[in-house]
Amino acid sequence: MVGVRDPGSLRSHQWYGTDGLRSFSHRARTRQLGYLPEEHLGKPVIAVLNTWSDINPCHVHLRERAQAVKRGVWQAGGFPLEFPVSTLSETFQKPTPMLYRNMLAMETEELLRSYPVDGAVLLGGCDKSTPALLMGAASVDLPAVFVPAGPMLPGHWRDQVLGSGTDMWKYWDDRRAGLIGDAELAELENGLARSPGTCMTMGTASTLTAAAEALGVTMPGASSIPAVDSGHDRMAAASGRRIVGLVHRDLRLSRILTRPAYEDAVATVLALGGSTNAVIHLIAMAGRSGVPLALDDFDRIARTVPVLADLRPGGQYLMEDFHFAGGLPAFLSRLTDVLHLDRPTVAHDSLREQLAGARVHNTEVIRPRSRPLADEGGVAVLRGNLCPDGAVIKHIAAEPHLLRHTGPAVVFDDYRTMQRTINDPGLGITADTVLVLRNAGPKGGPGMPEYGMLPIPDHLLKEGVRDMVRISDARMSGTSYGTCVLHVAPESYVGGPLALVRTGDTISLDVPARSLRLDVPDDELERRRAAWSPPPAKYERGYGALYGEQITQADTGCDFAFLSRPGAVPDPYAG
Ligand code: FES
Ligand code: MG
Repeated sequence: MVGVRDPGSLRSHQWYGTDGLRSFSHRARTRQLGYLPEEHLGKPVIAVLNTWSDINPCHVHLRERAQAVKRGVWQAGGFPLEFPVSTLSETFQKPTPMLYRNMLAMETEELLRSYPVDGAVLLGGCDKSTPALLMGAASVDLPAVFVPAGPMLPGHWRDQVLGSGTDMWKYWDDRRAGLIGDAELAELENGLARSPGTCMTMGTASTLTAAAEALGVTMPGASSIPAVDSGHDRMAAASGRRIVGLVHRDLRLSRILTRPAYEDAVATVLALGGSTNAVIHLIAMAGRSGVPLALDDFDRIARTVPVLADLRPGGQYLMEDFHFAGGLPAFLSRLTDVLHLDRPTVAHDSLREQLAGARVHNTEVIRPRSRPLADEGGVAVLRGNLCPDGAVIKHIAAEPHLLRHTGPAVVFDDYRTMQRTINDPGLGITADTVLVLRNAGPKGGPGMPEYGMLPIPDHLLKEGVRDMVRISDARMSGTSYGTCVLHVAPESYVGGPLALVRTGDTISLDVPARSLRLDVPDDELERRRAAWSPPPAKYERGYGALYGEQITQADTGCDFAFLSRPGAVPDPYAG
């Protein structure tokens, strides 16, 4: 049993416990909230940051779940206070919630700093909400526990099991190819997403919540519990109890979020065959933890771990299957030779202790090392004259015959033009063409929208073509698939070489050699560069303008420069 901390050493004591006008006022105002002093004074104040919203189907159950967290906090002798924060709904927020990840990170950081908070429970899970909450909390460096929203139930249509996202793309292509009609589409609308919760494939949400669990900031097994399972309530309450203990031990995020923890999160994401978005987010999160993490770490670690999870979009199964196969503890028990087992987590003194007794219950969903889905981790980092600062490809979600491919480029200057003209027969697009989209990066998009799975022209779909080489400075949804080279850095909008490609140029992709090259002589590229000028900024004022001024490139995590740099920020009572 952990000792109870001297109340005078709690951060919230500065608000409540000192002999002054302010403390008098804060105590009076807490009575106004309906609490007697004996209910809260001297207890750890736990902020429950909730990304619940009516517009966010992935988080719509979190209003109830926050009650379970509070139950746990009360049980352990803490004082819970819920804070509503921005919701980042991957489905509804345009142009992309990525534009707002750093805004939620800022909100998280500033709320935790400016209020009487001793520790935090963070409720999120839809794609960018996980990194945003953890980036903000890491910057304040209080004790914190992350509660993943949990995956939704498996989708169903007739006798088919559906993956949200992944099957949406698939059946939309089937409709464009004339294989299904409006009636089938209406049925699919009923079956794609059957319950609250995050996408139940190994898309971006499940990848990032698994990364959070691997980092050690969730309760063990938390990331795969289905959102509507009563076990999710129990996990939320356990998280509430746990955070109070962490405050008493003053176990801050900086003790958990270390370089070994980030290396393990990278290994986990790669062995899961997870989303390429994790590359950007983990680099940004590590930046806030003061931990150096670079693209090359992903490529290096990828060569040390096989892909062991047979999950869509790369494989067959869904998150509920993964949960009943043993979840992340079982999965990590397959990787103990590459993990750092002596580091602490929020739940245990060491990861070794956390994984003790974990067992795999289904060796098809979580494969043994002797029978991997791929010998190397799921993401490769490419270099070459088209991407001097790197690019990424999820090669396990690509057609193998395209992993070494040379072809002529057809270039689209922006997404709208591409949408309008992709089916134009005059473009002469064949299955060998390399489709290029630019001005879809962090600044140019702006917000690096998930445009990276460029559509295949209708006439090729009808011929049965389902994959082509596609290159962009955009991101790709974690539920997407195909030979899509993403995150090309520097992006075209700031004058990266992608800005200089012309239709008809030859591009060579060689994933085994980790190379992406534009076969145009250097002197010709120099001539093109001299003639190039940047497109005008899209935002002249407001948050978008701030974003454009501050956003960093994909290879460094797309954080804001002023948020990711080191430096002092005074605590409000110390300032
Ligand atoms: Fe929210 Fe996929 S849309 S997790
Ligand atoms: Mg997504």
